[in-house]
Amino acid sequence: MTIKLQIYKCNICGNLVQVLLEGDGNLICCGKEMELMGIQYDTNELGEKHTPKIELKDGKKYVNVLGHPMTKEHYIQFIESYTNDKQEVHIKFFTPDELPETEAKINTNEEFNAIEYCNIHNLWGNNKMLDNEDGNYSI
Ligand SMILES: [Fe+2]
Repeated sequence: MTIKLQIYKCNICGNLVQVLLEGDGNLICCGKEMELMGIQYDTNELGEKHTPKIELKDGKKYVNVLGHPMTKEHYIQFIESYTNDKQEVHIKFFTPDELPETEAKINTNEEFNAIEYCNIHNLWGNNKMLDNEDGNYSI
């Protein structure tokens, strides 16, 4: 049984897949069950480097992981943003020479979910916007 937008990894070949529409079956790759990637929300030292930051700038929504390295060996592979009802999703992939920041192109006036995937430390999430100048989250 899967849940919409869950992310599963094959620990043999590295395939990473995301569920678009859920079903009853288990996901198998290379003959083995794929591992569900849990979203980490830790606030420890690793969390500080990996938790996506959600900010408003000029009325637009941005997500970044600017405190994280971007080298061939260790980098942010994608940032995904989605509304609380999971009806809208935006994803941006990165190469190691890019800044890990993207505009979250989803249509919502509420707080939303942001996740990022590090090639070494896996999946991290956040759903709180940073305080903006007037302390008001509405867009
Ligand atoms: Fe990392």
